[in-house]
Amino acid sequence: MDGTVGGGGHAAAWLAASSPSGRLFGCDRDGDAIDAAARRLAAFAGRFELRRGNFAELAQWLPAGSCDAVLLDLGVSSYQLDQPERGFSFLHDGPLDMRQDQRDLGTAADLIASVSAEELAGMFWELGEEPQARRIARAVERHRQVEPFTRTRQLADFIERLCPRRGARRHPATRVFQALRMAVNHEMDSLQAGLEGALTVLKPGGRLAVITFHSLEDRLVKNFGNERARGYTFEGERDVPELRQMCPPELRWVRRKALHPDAAEQASNVRSRSAHLRVLEKIG
Ligand SMILES: C[S@@+](CC[C@H](N)C(=O)[O-])C[C@H]1O[C@@H](n2cnc3c(N)ncnc32)[C@H](O)[C@@H]1O
Repeated sequence: MDGTVGGGGHAAAWLAASSPSGRLFGCDRDGDAIDAAARRLAAFAGRFELRRGNFAELAQWLPAGSCDAVLLDLGVSSYQLDQPERGFSFLHDGPLDMRQDQRDLGTAADLIASVSAEELAGMFWELGEEPQARRIARAVERHRQVEPFTRTRQLADFIERLCPRRGARRHPATRVFQALRMAVNHEMDSLQAGLEGALTVLKPGGRLAVITFHSLEDRLVKNFGNERARGYTFEGERDVPELRQMCPPELRWVRRKALHPDAAEQASNVRSRSAHLRVLEKIG
């Protein structure tokens, strides 16, 4: 199961490696990605099925215990980033959209126009880990009364004027763009549901691989893995040894630490720089 089939790169490699009989179920929220994957995988016709949808629902599409492996390669694809009209990137001017599934209601422009300054600050802080969250949110709220934010460059330039770069390599709007994208697409909720769904559809001994691109997602995956691998649950905020309830572990870490791309891979694919790969195995 490839929950984020994108342009079909991983899916093609998987189908090639599992020839002649391996089967793949691929999903993506983005209709363009499903079309691109169908073209890329044409040579494997008959061995794959594609579905447009959110991987949060994967346990509703596949029988429990039916998959050898589930892959979630999170975030946006290079294709999405490079299409100005999708509104994911501040490097190109486009509508402030950011919906991964264009059938969804509510673009980033709608979100930024409709929530309070406090909610914006909470979003920039929690989903973007933006240290200047409050200041940016207040300025956005004041500015939108005069001129709505509708374009990617308009928002990026506004943030850059407010928080000048001062030699930093990262664009000052990076964190706000990440927070908006995650909020528009409900990414953290989808990830939690996708991990739980993956555990259901995996066979005993099957593996779940997740590639994350920022600390918030990586923390969620790490916590999910640790909770399901430790063999007990506890109620409340704190783990008090006397109050633990024992239960069999459902997963084990294939490696304790996340894998990062090496220097050669980072050089050939700059966007892989912040990738973390974590792998878990379902206990039989
Ligand atoms: C980094 S790209 C994946 C690239 C892919 N592994 C490849 O080899 O081409 C991420 C993809 O995941 C999709 N995506 C993100 N969140 C999703 C979700 N909750 N459900 C389904 N697809 C999602 C995006 O639309 C995007 O196409």
